[in-house]
Amino acid sequence: MIHNLKTSSLGICLLAVVALPATTMGAETEDIIKYRQGVMKSVGGHTAAAAQIVRGKVDYADDLVYHAESIARSMQTVESLFPKDTDFGETRALDAIWSQADKFKQVSEESRAATKAFVDAAKANDKAAFAAKFKAMVDSCKACHKDFREKKEQ
Ligand code: HEC
Repeated sequence: MIHNLKTSSLGICLLAVVALPATTMGAETEDIIKYRQGVMKSVGGHTAAAAQIVRGKVDYADDLVYHAESIARSMQTVESLFPKDTDFGETRALDAIWSQADKFKQVSEESRAATKAFVDAAKANDKAAFAAKFKAMVDSCKACHKDFREKKEQ
């Protein structure tokens, strides 16, 4: 009886020691993934809102700079959303982000430049210019998603 009790509490102790660091690490990664998806969702929201203005569907032209700058702010540090080893769990981030780091940096930079150009065009309030720059910006989002984001399961 006593012997059994000792064995099982030792077992529990070992489990705790083994399980603790793994859980802590897992939670951290999960939190980073949630944060990054939240940032990307907000970028997606601003892009969808800006699209309505750019296409002339709504009359919120005064808000265009706000949407453009919000997207640009997130793109300024987009690489920081992808620390190493955050490619497992509930994420669509592909391993290529780290295995092709140079290419990832390049698409990040292109997106940064395209977003900044959109901000400038929005500030100038030149409809033809901001429509073209908006399209270029969306293309830059797609360029990264194409190579570095897992396709949605059908
Ligand atoms: C440098 C690469 C890169 C750029 C640039 C980029 N994204 Fe993403 N985006 C990703 C990756 C990778 C994911 C998947 C993140 C995950 O699941 O952890 C993602 C996810 C998303 C999501 C889904 C978020 C969710 O979980 O619901 C949206 C929406 C999105 N991006 C919009 C945009 C828009 C709009 C732009 C351009 C203004 C953009 N992204 C630019 C890499 C990028």
